[in-house]
Amino acid sequence: MFLGMDVGTGGTRAVLVDEQGKLIASASSEHAPFRVDHPGWAEQDPEDWWRAAQEAIRAVLADLAKSHPGRKVDALGLTGQMHGAVMLDQDGLVLRPSLIWCDTRTQPQCDWLHAQFGGGDQGRRRLIELAANPALPNFTLTKLLWVKEHQPDIFARIAHVLCPKDYVRYRLTGTYAMDVQEASGTLLLDVAHRRWSKDVAKIAGIPESWLPQLFESPEICAKIGPEAAKLTGLAAGTPVAAGAGDQGAGAVGMGILEPGSVSATIGTSGVVFAATAAPTMDPLGRLHTFCHAVPGRWHVMGVTQAAGLSLRWLKETLAPDQSYDQLTAQAAAIPAGSDGLLWTPYLLGERTPHLDGSATAAFVGITATTTRAHFTRAVLEGVAYSLRDTFTLFSELGIPVKGVRLGGGGARGPLWREIQANIYGYPCERLTAEEGGAFGAALMAGVGAGSWRDLDAACAAGITIAETIHPKSITVARYAEGYRAYRRVYPALKGIRG
Ligand code: XUL
Repeated sequence: MFLGMDVGTGGTRAVLVDEQGKLIASASSEHAPFRVDHPGWAEQDPEDWWRAAQEAIRAVLADLAKSHPGRKVDALGLTGQMHGAVMLDQDGLVLRPSLIWCDTRTQPQCDWLHAQFGGGDQGRRRLIELAANPALPNFTLTKLLWVKEHQPDIFARIAHVLCPKDYVRYRLTGTYAMDVQEASGTLLLDVAHRRWSKDVAKIAGIPESWLPQLFESPEICAKIGPEAAKLTGLAAGTPVAAGAGDQGAGAVGMGILEPGSVSATIGTSGVVFAATAAPTMDPLGRLHTFCHAVPGRWHVMGVTQAAGLSLRWLKETLAPDQSYDQLTAQAAAIPAGSDGLLWTPYLLGERTPHLDGSATAAFVGITATTTRAHFTRAVLEGVAYSLRDTFTLFSELGIPVKGVRLGGGGARGPLWREIQANIYGYPCERLTAEEGGAFGAALMAGVGAGSWRDLDAACAAGITIAETIHPKSITVARYAEGYRAYRRVYPALKGIRG
């Protein structure tokens, strides 16, 4: 029995998976909402993650005791929101709330970093050579640099830096550890060689002693300690696998392991993720290039900041009295292409492909015959066009796409699935059950504990395809035209605000 735990943004979720890869139980505990003391800031208290983790573990163990009396957890795997900076002193005490992934206050620190590497485009290119990625406000290192500049007293007391799920591991086991997939999102990793980058740490002024020991995701790196055993009900000594960040573990949970396999997941944000055999860098840094949770493989991903969020915003703003099912049923009656209405989903600026935190969203092409149903359909299409931008980058960079698996809320209804297949132009698969990152983390624990030979074997046991959605050539052609128009909107509107 393997326990996978996802320390997300909204809450922590624990799942139990058996040696057949079957989900046995799941439980969640919510986090306090993240604090936004200033626009663009986002902070959470690591102690709250630890409280939620204990609650979620105790709840799934209570379920296990009822459904499978006498069975115990053989290993645990962790995943969670990526990039957050947890700063600890030499006694392992939290020094300040964590600046989390969606905190975007650190553009000045990104500019400073690029300047240390030679300035402008040259600095960005040099950093991409060393860390596979440019400086973006989401990445951990830029958050440490903000603390250095604004809270030097706290910076001076830092002895250990962890990401959110790794802090929960520290509380469970007393071990400072991180996997290479998560570490890729700190900007301090030499992604190509799967080790900390001495060069980046030195130039950024980060002591190497702060960085935890690195592991491959399925490796066992720690054991549950006696105190945590008392608090959670897990047996002391239970092995803990390194795990991976939510995107890496989510990809494992969807079977995106082999080069050529790709997922498109629409949650609050949207991610197109491709497994690759070697680190593939975009010289302009528009895609993230990270180590995969699969040892010896890498991945690239493009991120649309407001994917599912676009639909939620539309519903809350224009149709609070309608359900999502009602809205999408109305949208299904509108022809593909929404009679020329376009939506660019830049409600939270944009990562891929524009790397522009100040981009804004737009509807373009409204006429006297435009209805609410057009707006809904245009939002579903605009989010898919935005994700198609990542497919366009994949083809520019020669990243193969053999097939696409759909995940998250965007895979749940037939209309958005169909729109995605026709806009991407690839057959898209839907899985029978998609349990997200926690499931992937449980599979990693199973591999670490020796139940499966490797992640490929674990996924073969646990993942089945429910349906393949084939693109239709007439609709693909219609959307190719729509996509050409969509691509003209951002450059035409850039910088225009009333
Ligand atoms: C990945 C990313 C998000 C966070 C929060 O780059 O920013 O997936 O991990 O879920």
